Amino acid sequence: MDYWLKGGRVIDPAQKIDECRDVFVCNGKVFLSGISKSNLQNCSVIDCSGKTVMPGLIDVHTHMRDPGYEYKEDIVTGTRAALAGGVTTLFCMANTHPVTDAESIVSYIVAKSKKSGYVNVHPIAAMTEGMKGKKIVDFASLLNAGAVTFSDDGRWVHDSHIMLTIFQQAAKHSVRVIQHSEDMAMTMGGVMHDGETAQRLGLPGIPSASEYAAIYRDCILCELAKSKLHVAHVSTAESLRIITEAKQRGVNVTCEVAPHHLVMDDSYIKSDNGIYKVNPPLRSPNDRAALIEGLKTGKIDIIATDHAPHAIHEKEKGMLDAPFGMIGMETSFPIMYTYFVLENAINLSKLIELMSANPARLFNLAGKGTLQDGFDADIAVVDLDAEYRINKDALFSKSSNTPFHDWKVRGKIQHVFVGGILKLQNGQIIENTTGGA
Ligand code: DOR
Repeated sequence: MDYWLKGGRVIDPAQKIDECRDVFVCNGKVFLSGISKSNLQNCSVIDCSGKTVMPGLIDVHTHMRDPGYEYKEDIVTGTRAALAGGVTTLFCMANTHPVTDAESIVSYIVAKSKKSGYVNVHPIAAMTEGMKGKKIVDFASLLNAGAVTFSDDGRWVHDSHIMLTIFQQAAKHSVRVIQHSEDMAMTMGGVMHDGETAQRLGLPGIPSASEYAAIYRDCILCELAKSKLHVAHVSTAESLRIITEAKQRGVNVTCEVAPHHLVMDDSYIKSDNGIYKVNPPLRSPNDRAALIEGLKTGKIDIIATDHAPHAIHEKEKGMLDAPFGMIGMETSFPIMYTYFVLENAINLSKLIELMSANPARLFNLAGKGTLQDGFDADIAVVDLDAEYRINKDALFSKSSNTPFHDWKVRGKIQHVFVGGILKLQNGQIIENTTGGA
């Protein structure tokens, strides 16, 4: 089926387009310049007046929990959550069970996504076997099996010699590795940001330096190997300063920030509540202010969610015993739109650049991240006027560990196309439209 998306405000940062025009979906590809008369006659028309049409969002940091922890999420439920959030392509982290460090596991994720997933799924393979930081995986075979890049997310590669070798391997294969920057020797036992709130609640802290010292080392090793580094979930002011300085001296380093670190800080944690436990933790108000300043001044390359589903019986355990993590794919666009676009920190085109164009460009995703003629028809249509309260019980994710329950937001994803197939219509998933790229 081909489509004619009529009369919407089209925003495509990669082409510097922000204007009212029609969008055509033909044979799985997108066209702004028009299509032939015969194709046009067979199009199904979707009225987009009053709506905004944008390239599908690309989330480079999610946890699908598949294989191994399917009680928290799986590729089916995780990609349904993605669809509801306007995310048409996602990367999933390697801390599965078993760890995604072998061809067979990468192949399993690719095959299951193609059969049962609703959006494009790219597995991230571990950088080291079992994510133990000791033995480097075989980059060539994992890339060949379908890994998009490498990360031991959840763990930092502590051994500098091993990390240098990883950067060399990454350079050889032209991939940008993703690092979880946390010197665990400094954070052992910590459950929230090491600050006044942790002291008041009597909970062990995670110092900011455990993050930025790790980032400092990685920038140096990346520079030495002439490699490419992507720093996951940046949470401190000093981290952003170090990354910016490294960029200025020519290091090929990029970074992402998660919506929860931009919109909350540790003052939001009023009691010992595991729903707020996330790694890296919600930092101080000063850190948060620096991240927002970085958002405004172009120091952040990507907004990624770190969608980390956990069962409610796990998160109910309180700060000391609950696992780290919060879900985010279904709330990221409305949270960012409401709190940063409507508050004039950034404009809408910049937000879409951070959530679609930049991820596609920095991770070399061919045919993605823009509505350029002939590119994949991965498209999200959003109603920016729709105002509603986030309801944790109405989300598509298998888990409901969101800190944004009952938050008032604007911006509801209405329709989503993946590879030209309409999969979400009027906010409802069209069943049996599985099969990603
Ligand atoms: O909060 C987090 N949860 N941070 C991580 O780095 C890992 C993630 C998870 O897998 O739950």
